[in-house]
Amino acid sequence: MEKSVKLTYKNETFEFPLVGGTEDELGIDIKKLRALTGLVTLDPGFKNSGSCQSGVTFLDGEKGVLKYRGYAIEDLANGADFLEVAYLLIFGELPTSAQLDKFQSDINEESIVDEDLKVILKSFPKTAHPMGILASLTSALTAFNPSSVDVDSEEDMYKAIVTIMAKFPVIVAWTQRKVKGLPLNYSDSKLSYVDNVAKMMFKKPNSDYDLNPTITAALNKLLILHADHEQNCSTSTVRIVGSSHAGLFASISAGISALWGPLHGGANQAVIEMLEAIKADGGDTKKFMAKAKDKNDSFRLMGFGHRVYKNFDPRAKIIKVTADEVLNELGIVDPILDIAKGLEQEALSDTYFVDRKLYPNVDFYSGIIYRALGIPTEMFTVMFALGRLPGWIAQWREMRMNNEPIGRPRQIYTGATEKVFKTLKKR
Ligand code: ACO
Repeated sequence: MEKSVKLTYKNETFEFPLVGGTEDELGIDIKKLRALTGLVTLDPGFKNSGSCQSGVTFLDGEKGVLKYRGYAIEDLANGADFLEVAYLLIFGELPTSAQLDKFQSDINEESIVDEDLKVILKSFPKTAHPMGILASLTSALTAFNPSSVDVDSEEDMYKAIVTIMAKFPVIVAWTQRKVKGLPLNYSDSKLSYVDNVAKMMFKKPNSDYDLNPTITAALNKLLILHADHEQNCSTSTVRIVGSSHAGLFASISAGISALWGPLHGGANQAVIEMLEAIKADGGDTKKFMAKAKDKNDSFRLMGFGHRVYKNFDPRAKIIKVTADEVLNELGIVDPILDIAKGLEQEALSDTYFVDRKLYPNVDFYSGIIYRALGIPTEMFTVMFALGRLPGWIAQWREMRMNNEPIGRPRQIYTGATEKVFKTLKKR
């Protein structure tokens, strides 16, 4: 097998080693490229560039395969609890019962958020987008907790991980309660992680909250399916911010901002808004398909296409089935589910989408489930962030433990050269 590639430049040949992964991926190690040749690479959007070697998540976009630490996403989504998956992603192995119990009880211990954080939350207008609130509150957590982690100390690292795992669902729930005008509450240490999420989000002040197994199961599955996705936009953000040795909470707050955009996690909100717009317009899916294909129209079919998947997103397959189950079990008829299915059918047989290998992604059906659970549309991306938290932590931990260098890309400068400066009065 080839072990290197050769590059010829100015009549000189340079050799760069190939780096292999455990799933047979191959990359060219160009660490010495600039030093040897004076050249840099240009790859906008990093479509061809690996930023790190990682042992957390593997995905094969051509085959539609996704694995966390070697376990198939289908097995985890159907058989595991979100906290087990979080432990797996962060620490590398599935927990034993004792390890899981300890993780859960350590999280319970830390699941109090400083009351002063409520003052910050209160100062946001009710119209503020929940993702902006979530990013700010996550960043603000730094002010109430140790700002830096000694990554050489197992104990320090564990403490920081438990702290954010514990406090994050509380601020997620508070964000939803702010949107809905409900009083803020805390978790219940007798409940599991996911049951606590449900109770904190949905409990009304004037009645008890009865846990609903359908809601817990749906939340559990959605959180697992969103838990990690290797070097996507928000995860790369977390790693790059963390690479400056910024703290865990600050890095995650930056990841939340990256996730917010409609081309990334914000797509789940954009999908529902698109489906609602189609419904309000009379349900003519063909008209919107034509808009999506028109190069003069900026409209895109939200929830379709993926940077890496050029086949079915395996998460979308699971979510589609779950959407049907949840709506049936909760006795909800949602016309936009039919619009979504109609759009999917049309896109899958349309040459524009087929040629470009555009398939439904994780967010095409997730919003329909969130909506059925009673979560407001603008909260959908917050739910994505809650699921993605263990992935961000795992990737941040891996980056720090590998002592990766600060992320700092190069560029090809195309601006002006040698301009003569004139003082303000002379301009
Ligand atoms: N609707 C219509 N056309 C599309 C769509 C879409 N949803 N997605 C891609 N295309 C077209 C592009 O116009 C382009 O066509 P061209 O080759 O004729 O110019 C081609 O497919 C390739 O698209 P790119 O934008 O170059 O692909 P890229 O890998 O950069 O983008 C992305 C991937 C951002 C996900 C894109 O498919 C998209 O915008 N999808 C809609 C938003 C969305 O659902 N995002 C969620 C992604 S999953 C996640 O982040 C959790």
